[in-house]
Amino acid sequence: MKREPTLVLALPGCSPLAAALARSLRCGWSELALHHFPDGETGVRIDATVDGRRVVLAGSLDRPDAKTLPLIFAADAARELGAAQVGLIAPYLAYMRQDTRFQPGEAVTSRSYARLLSASLDFLVTVDPHLHRVRRLDEIYSIRTQVVPAAPPIARWLRGHVASPWLIGPDEESAQWVAEVSRLADAPWSVLRKTRHGDRDVSVSLTGREWPGRVPVLLDDIISTGETMLAATSLLMSAGLGHPVCIGVHALFDGEVHRRLLQCGASRVLSCDTVAHPSNAIRMAPALARASRQVSLGKSAASRPA
Ligand code: R5P
Repeated sequence: MKREPTLVLALPGCSPLAAALARSLRCGWSELALHHFPDGETGVRIDATVDGRRVVLAGSLDRPDAKTLPLIFAADAARELGAAQVGLIAPYLAYMRQDTRFQPGEAVTSRSYARLLSASLDFLVTVDPHLHRVRRLDEIYSIRTQVVPAAPPIARWLRGHVASPWLIGPDEESAQWVAEVSRLADAPWSVLRKTRHGDRDVSVSLTGREWPGRVPVLLDDIISTGETMLAATSLLMSAGLGHPVCIGVHALFDGEVHRRLLQCGASRVLSCDTVAHPSNAIRMAPALARASRQVSLGKSAASRPA
């Protein structure tokens, strides 16, 4: 019997993503088997034939520390067992925010993490990584990378759900996503000025033109502690600019943050499905599968410029 060329291997907790990708890629998928030894080490087993196949590990890298060693072990095992290629589809790519030494002595984890993954993988596909001082993934990753933009599905969602949107980024860094979504959704956009005083201490202020009468749509790549979105929502509410729709590409926040955002004035809080979350409303699996097919065939070796 002819073996399918591609196999999707689900990282722990990521079976729905693996199944969705396998459907799009029209191939099989299997769960990575993990065993936690009493001494705290982890055993990894691949229960499918990988010899000669293109193995695509699938898993989002939120809460990355516990996922990264099994990922590296699985990638190395697949290669030793004869896989023709070993790639990773990580809809959320971790360790992109520490892209410089903010304080003396700090590790630049985005570079170290990129070196670690690049040593075991042939390609990486992800959705809108946090590119800021690092402008392109291939500045730090030495493997083929492909960035899938969330802007087209977000713009489609807006066209279907918000009659007259005004896109607002909560800080200058978000201009790259906000500008693209507003171009595709044919809506005006602006960004706020943000100052971060600490992990959970953020202030924002209005800059540039305001669009009263339109529905404010706050858009950011990551919602984590939610402090950025909360500060931006409070600002819009106190300026009388309306109840914002809050959209995060990567939902790293918890239920309490969700509740606080609604309490603060957000009319709705939603996200792309890059991290499994109750706020997921925008699907990325088909675009991820298309990108994975291209990058594994070597058709697109570079990531999208920021
Ligand atoms: C940072 O520059 C990112 O784009 C987000 O604004 C940030 O990660 C949001 O984090 P939090 O929800 O913790 O304020």
